[in-house]
Amino acid sequence: MFKKFEMERFQSLYENEVKYNLSDSGNHPMSINQLFNEEEVKALLDMEIFYGYSKGDPRLCEAVSMWYPEKTSDNILITNGSAEANFVMATTLIQPEDEVVLVLPNYMQIPGIVENIGAKIINTYLKEELDWHIDMDEMRSLVTPKTKLISICNPSNPTGAVMSDSEMEELAEIARQNNAFVHSDEVYRGSELNNIETKSFANFYEKTIISCGLSKSFAHPGLRIGWVVADSSLIADMWSRKDYSSITSSVLSQEIAIKIMSETNKEKILSRSSVMLESNLQLFQTWLDKHDGLFSFVPPKAGGMAFVGYQMDINSTEYAHKLRTEQSVLIVPGDHYGMDSYLRFGIGSEANYLSEGLSLVSDSIQSLGY
Ligand SMILES: Cc1ncc(COP(=O)(O)O)c(C=O)c1O
Repeated sequence: MFKKFEMERFQSLYENEVKYNLSDSGNHPMSINQLFNEEEVKALLDMEIFYGYSKGDPRLCEAVSMWYPEKTSDNILITNGSAEANFVMATTLIQPEDEVVLVLPNYMQIPGIVENIGAKIINTYLKEELDWHIDMDEMRSLVTPKTKLISICNPSNPTGAVMSDSEMEELAEIARQNNAFVHSDEVYRGSELNNIETKSFANFYEKTIISCGLSKSFAHPGLRIGWVVADSSLIADMWSRKDYSSITSSVLSQEIAIKIMSETNKEKILSRSSVMLESNLQLFQTWLDKHDGLFSFVPPKAGGMAFVGYQMDINSTEYAHKLRTEQSVLIVPGDHYGMDSYLRFGIGSEANYLSEGLSLVSDSIQSLGY
């Protein structure tokens, strides 16, 4: 049976209907006026909306490649969001007879796609007692010469954990010994709360495939711009898949993306993200402290989300729907990650909005008698 993407469907059904959408994991979106001056806006309005390049505008491929060590435009495929990057990566690399090691919880798109392909899935879970880091001994025991691909999400959705350089070196070594590919979804790279940018896995391992995009750290989800970074022959294979799926990404979005990925704007946007998230995390922590004993929490190191365990006697999906229908607040239930008794709160929105939404969550908690 076709495995549906529960979290995406849940969000698209409800996120535009509620008063407080705390289900988003990115940073509050920016507008065109925040980046472009009047003349540039006029140039955008005058643009002819042609097809453009199906592999991606060469100027954008070049700008994106600068964010990765020793990569050139040949190593980049522009996609419609990192969702399409993940999709072309998985459908290019994975066959039904393959074995894939997945680090969970993650965004849950790759697990669904791999399950739908029919490949063998071997899961390893991030451990809360390891501050949501990978258990490398367990990883070492699971990866074998039969492993085609190890898939990670770093920084992690939903935990916000960030792998250290030495952890990435260790994982690269495990993969190298078994000749496995590593796929690293890095869409939250650049929104570290301490402003120290996570290194791309591409720094550590030659058989790495990166998916990334502008939706989270770069605060432009509606542009639907993402990319894959990989060896040029793999890029060529994935491009062939893209010819069948979406052909190309919007020329208008790519034009805006070129501006975003220029050195000065990139730095500006990423530090906006870090500053916002750092102060929102304090706000969130203060709110959690008011509910002493009810939640367990390892603060995120990156990304606009907080993943908390709870002690209430109610299923996470049931609770998310209760909150949605009674308080018009949307959060993500742990069930979507296969982890009931956890909840994911988006903390990347504007501070007032976040604080008003959380206050309604408090009302709902009280109504349950906690
Ligand atoms: C880890 C991760 N990858 C990919 C995506 C898809 O994002 P987009 O296609 O907007 O880049 C998301 C969205 O939440 C995500 O969290």
